[in-house]
Amino acid sequence: MIIDVVTLFPSMFAGVLGESILKRAQEQGQARISLVNLRDFSREKHKKVDAPPYGGGPGMVILAEPVFEAVEHLRRSGRADSTLVLLTPGGVRLTQALAGELARRPGLILLCGHYEGFDERVSLGLSPLEVSIGDYVLTGGEIPAMALLDTVVRLIPGVLGSAESLLQESFSGGQLEYPQYTRPPEFRGMAVPDVLLSGDHERIARWRREQARERTRARRPDLEGGARPDEMRSQ
Ligand code: ADE
Repeated sequence: MIIDVVTLFPSMFAGVLGESILKRAQEQGQARISLVNLRDFSREKHKKVDAPPYGGGPGMVILAEPVFEAVEHLRRSGRADSTLVLLTPGGVRLTQALAGELARRPGLILLCGHYEGFDERVSLGLSPLEVSIGDYVLTGGEIPAMALLDTVVRLIPGVLGSAESLLQESFSGGQLEYPQYTRPPEFRGMAVPDVLLSGDHERIARWRREQARERTRARRPDLEGGARPDEMRSQ
């Protein structure tokens, strides 16, 4: 998958792209991620990309022109089929299901806003998919873009080692994940549940299903009745 991130702060991404799964996915050729500096598409003096809002009010608004120029440049450079995504608190909520859908696209162009957001004509003229990572306001779209990148790239087939680990993770079955333990069997007075040391795989599987159900009911009742693992598998 080809992913282009259009941002005023490309250096913010170095750490996230240079470690762990995102690093490996790029090394293995499953994700080609490039950073595009919006300022490079400014036609203004001093490479300005923002201006005060018409009608007054606080902050600055990102000009439509450099955004259109950047997207049109990318479209002409082999990204004709990429899905355009704009990160904004006013977008549709990023969920595991949406991440799974985005992971099947040939490419993504992520638009990161800053300040008071983009001139509305970016949305009107480019019709991006507007995505929010939650009901809180960050300083810009960069951290949301990193969250989206991370969650989407790990769903690209072959990026994670085992399909099993994907299937059992929180949300992929519409439920939270069951608790995990590793050695030692007892730590500071807290013992690993006997069933996990029993070697009885059927009992272990049943215990895990019950734990996942119970956790979901207690912590995220809003998820109950979500997709079951067998429904998710066909995605
Ligand atoms: N930009 C600022 N806050 C955001 C959020 N919660 N989600 C996506 N983009 C944002």
